[in-house]
Amino acid sequence: MNKNKNKKEPSASAAGNVSLGREISVDRLGFGAMRLTGEGIWGPPKDRKSALAVLRRAVELDVNFIDTADSYGPYVSEELIAEALYPYPAGLVIATKGGWNRPGPDQWTHDATPAHLRSAVEGSLKRLRLDRIDVYQLHTPDPAVSFEASVETLAQLQNEGKVRLVALSNVTREHIERARRIVPIVSVQNRYSFADREWDYVVDYCERNEIAFIPWYPLAAGKVAGEVLDRIAKAHGRSSTQIALAWLLKRSPMMLPIPGTSSIEHLEQNVAAASLRLSEEEFEALSTVHELVEAR
Ligand SMILES: NC(=O)c1ccc[n+]([C@@H]2O[C@H](COP(=O)([O-])OP(=O)(O)OC[C@H]3O[C@@H](n4cnc5c(N)ncnc54)[C@H](OP(=O)(O)O)[C@@H]3O)[C@@H](O)[C@H]2O)c1
Repeated sequence: MNKNKNKKEPSASAAGNVSLGREISVDRLGFGAMRLTGEGIWGPPKDRKSALAVLRRAVELDVNFIDTADSYGPYVSEELIAEALYPYPAGLVIATKGGWNRPGPDQWTHDATPAHLRSAVEGSLKRLRLDRIDVYQLHTPDPAVSFEASVETLAQLQNEGKVRLVALSNVTREHIERARRIVPIVSVQNRYSFADREWDYVVDYCERNEIAFIPWYPLAAGKVAGEVLDRIAKAHGRSSTQIALAWLLKRSPMMLPIPGTSSIEHLEQNVAAASLRLSEEEFEALSTVHELVEAR
């Protein structure tokens, strides 16, 4: 995207790309914009200028998939994206979400009623200054609302031209199957990393069905995991977070990590992981870490 780009800079394109519903192709290393808000994912960032600079730098490094949600801030993350990047460069995909309310810092309450989702989409369109949202994710199923009713609302919003592609977050395989009876689902976003494998079966399901899998909290690692990571990181002369990202990229061709950071230095490190390739032995060593963690 940056025409004057210095060739030596890291590029998200080194990770290859992934298709979203065979309609849009994005580089397989995105950016999560949740951490740009204030403490507790609440209110404005301490340093607004630097939050805007992180977003602009991400695009310079060829990141063309940015994940956000109306609940980050609330509203702050979407507003920052528009302030930093509008008018958006061609090919930039913003994936936002709805279905949570935010009564206060670190507090999240469900609301995936059809009425709330409709007004959430209208609000995101306004804040992001878009006529249509490329990817709209149901942030999480609401236990007090019929899951089908939430998904049907997103399908209607797609028919009305307000949403291009529909996606899910924090779901089981059963949810995905139920949703796919209503509307094509292009991505699923669940918590996942080499050390955190609860959703392995969902990753496999997504791969089989050409659905992108977006791992959140992709840099999570406990103490045992950290020891194995450090050993492999030393061998590559890279940081442990870069190794954690490289594992994800090797785990599945449908994997689309969105590491989040409020620091340009960390962003550059994370994007540099796009070109990192682990050996089979390294991949296997990291893949079995979760068994050691669970056995303790
Ligand atoms: N669907 C959901 O329910 C859900 C839930 C949570 C998150 N998400 C999405 O997933 C994205 C990523 O998740 P996350 O932010 O929870 O987890 P993450 O990306 O695994 O971790 C973020 C944390 O790691 C630090 N970090 C990032 N890069 C680093 C580096 N190179 N070296 C050292 N530390 C680094 C960040 O701090 P610094 O700012 O200091 O770098 C931040 O505290 C979010 O931005 C959001 O878009 C979705």
